[in-house]
Amino acid sequence: MKERLDLHNLPRHIAVIMDGNGRWAKRQGAARVFGHRNAIQAVRETTEGCAEIGVQYLTLYAFSTENWNRPKAEVNALMELLVSTIRKEVGTLQKNNVKLNHIGNLDDLPGSCQKQLHEAISQTQHNTGLTLTLALSYSGRWEIMQAARNLMKAVQEGKMAPEALTQELFEQQLCTHPIPDPELLIRTSGEMRISNFLLWQLAYTELYITEVLWPDFRREHLYEAILSYQQRERRFGKTSEQINLSKQG
Ligand code: IPE
Ligand code: IPE
Ligand code: MG
Repeated sequence: MKERLDLHNLPRHIAVIMDGNGRWAKRQGAARVFGHRNAIQAVRETTEGCAEIGVQYLTLYAFSTENWNRPKAEVNALMELLVSTIRKEVGTLQKNNVKLNHIGNLDDLPGSCQKQLHEAISQTQHNTGLTLTLALSYSGRWEIMQAARNLMKAVQEGKMAPEALTQELFEQQLCTHPIPDPELLIRTSGEMRISNFLLWQLAYTELYITEVLWPDFRREHLYEAILSYQQRERRFGKTSEQINLSKQG
């Protein structure tokens, strides 16, 4: 599979909605948490798979704003798993030259989580390979709201005129800034929705949805998704003829 990829036409940024852990566990007659625990291998393979071929940015949706509404026991188990995984994996991130990053409302996370995350981010800050962003307590609407709030404040304080607002200025207020928009979004477990992920950034992203449940997701599934991306024509509102002309020129 890897040999079939065109390494000159890789997405710079891949975003993933890691879904299906609960169903994976249920199929084996186990509790949902069992699925979350078995999801770590998929995170590892996806990160290493991206780093290996030279993808620059990988953003993983690990916990949404709405996921706080799940049963308390599941939320607690997820938070604990997060802390222990970050602690265990930071060495591997270093070895693979991966820089860790976070988007979302950090204040919502338990103290131990915040601390572990901060430590891992600062330990890996000088790495120059893949940037791995974890979306934790993140949602697209939350992000857009806080961008709007910041801009309203700037206007109120007389630092900016409403007419001066451009897409670029708005983007500077998003927590993904200065990371480019994802070219490819992968969602596992077959759901055909965005679930409040990167609402602004996904405007022209290619969507790839697979039936594979997240704990079963491996390198070859990642490469299959990239291959599908490479077979698409990205038109950005233009016609196919225009796209082909600009390729020739
Ligand atoms: C994704 O798997 C992990 C999180 C959202 C934290 P789910 O837990 O949503 O699994 P399903 O969708 O119920 O199978
Ligand atoms: C999306 O999955 C959030 C994450 C993967 C973190 P959900 O399982 O929460 O999404 P819905 O509820 O099925 O839309
Ligand atoms: Mg789900």
